[in-house]
Amino acid sequence: MDKTRILFVCLGNICRSPSAEAVMKSLVQKEGIADFFEIDSAGIIDAHEGEPADARMKRHAIIRGYQLTSISRPVNAAHDFRHFDMIIGMDDQNISDLMRLAPDETAKKKIFKMTDFSHSGHYGIVPDPYYGGDQGFEMVLDILEEACEGLLHHIKNQHKY
Ligand code: 4NP
Repeated sequence: MDKTRILFVCLGNICRSPSAEAVMKSLVQKEGIADFFEIDSAGIIDAHEGEPADARMKRHAIIRGYQLTSISRPVNAAHDFRHFDMIIGMDDQNISDLMRLAPDETAKKKIFKMTDFSHSGHYGIVPDPYYGGDQGFEMVLDILEEACEGLLHHIKNQHKY
């Protein structure tokens, strides 16, 4: 079976999207279906290219058992929109930036917002935690845990595994 290829995208690729990547990888590993997935993350901007995830984000994530290992890189529109099946942004600005970067209509159809998969209806975006305090990082993880469950449910319904 063809892998489902997912790219999570935020602004800097050091807080939200590396966390989404780790939460989703952990979920598919727990369910024993990791081989059916390729999961990566990227940023709209290249300001943090080559850097590991933000130390505050890492600290909050590890408490919940998620090790953030990704290295920041910007979206490579020519490659990423062809290679990945789903390109998932964290907030409305990410979505409009991705729409601008998408090379064609087929590419635009691959763009989703993370909270579209969140079932509680409590969240409309994954808020940028960069300039805030501890609570912002915890909220990112709360939203991502819920939305990744919803995303996996959505994919399972499509693929029937
Ligand atoms: P992220 O957080 O988009 O969740 O990785 C941010 C990281 C860096 C910046 C903003 C948000 N920045 O302005 O450098």
